[in-house]
Amino acid sequence: MIFIWAEDQHHAIGYKGQLPWHLPADMAFFKQHTMGNTLISGSRTFASYRKPLPHRKNIVLTTRTATDYPSGVEVLHSAAEVVAYEKAHPDETVIISGGARVFESLLPDVDTLLRTRVLHTFKADTYMPEIDYSQFQLVESISHEPDEKNPYGLVFERWERR
Ligand SMILES: NC(=O)c1ccc[n+]([C@@H]2O[C@H](COP(=O)([O-])OP(=O)(O)OC[C@H]3O[C@@H](n4cnc5c(N)ncnc54)[C@H](OP(=O)(O)O)[C@@H]3O)[C@@H](O)[C@H]2O)c1
Repeated sequence: MIFIWAEDQHHAIGYKGQLPWHLPADMAFFKQHTMGNTLISGSRTFASYRKPLPHRKNIVLTTRTATDYPSGVEVLHSAAEVVAYEKAHPDETVIISGGARVFESLLPDVDTLLRTRVLHTFKADTYMPEIDYSQFQLVESISHEPDEKNPYGLVFERWERR
C-alpha cells in the first residue's frame, strides 16, 4: 500500500478541513499517481474533495455506512478492513490519501511513501504522525523550484520500506 501526502516544514498537512496551501504542481503530482487507482480516504479528507474524484475508485474509511455516501463510493470501517481489501484485490494499486488518523492507523502496513515536502511553514491544525524513516529508503527525490503558480519550493520524494 502507498501513502501520498504533502507536508510543510513542521509536518503540517491540514487547516480547517482543507489543505493549508494551493499548489497546482502538487495537485498534478497527486493526480498523476492516483489516476486509475484505488484511493482510500478518511471521511474528513473525502469531505474536503467535495465529490468523488473522477477516474479513481473512491473508498471512504468511516464508522458510518455506505448509505451516507453517493452511489459508487465504497466504505470501509477499520484499518484491518483496508488491509483485507488490499489482499482481496491484488490487481488494484491501493493509495491512501490521509488524513492524519488514517495514516496513523495504517503506518504498520505501508510499503511506499510518496511525500511532498513544501519548503515553508503554514498555520495548521492537522499534522502527519511521526514516521520512523530509518525503516524506509529514499529512492527518488525531485526538486521543484518556486514559480508563478507555486510560490514555495517543493520536493517530491519516494520512500520504499527496507
Ligand atoms: N496535505 C495532505 O497531503 C493532506 C492529506 C490528507 C488530508 N489532509 C488534510 O487533513 C485534514 C483531514 O485529516 P483528519 O486527520 O482531520 O481526518 P481524516 O483522517 O481524513 O478523517 C477522520 C475520520 O475518518 C474516519 N477514520 C479515520 N481512521 C479510521 C479508522 N482507522 N477506522 C474507521 N474510521 C476511521 C473517521 O470517520 P467518521 O467520523 O466518519 O467515522 C474519522 O472521524 C484536512 O484538513 C485535510 O485537508 C491533508
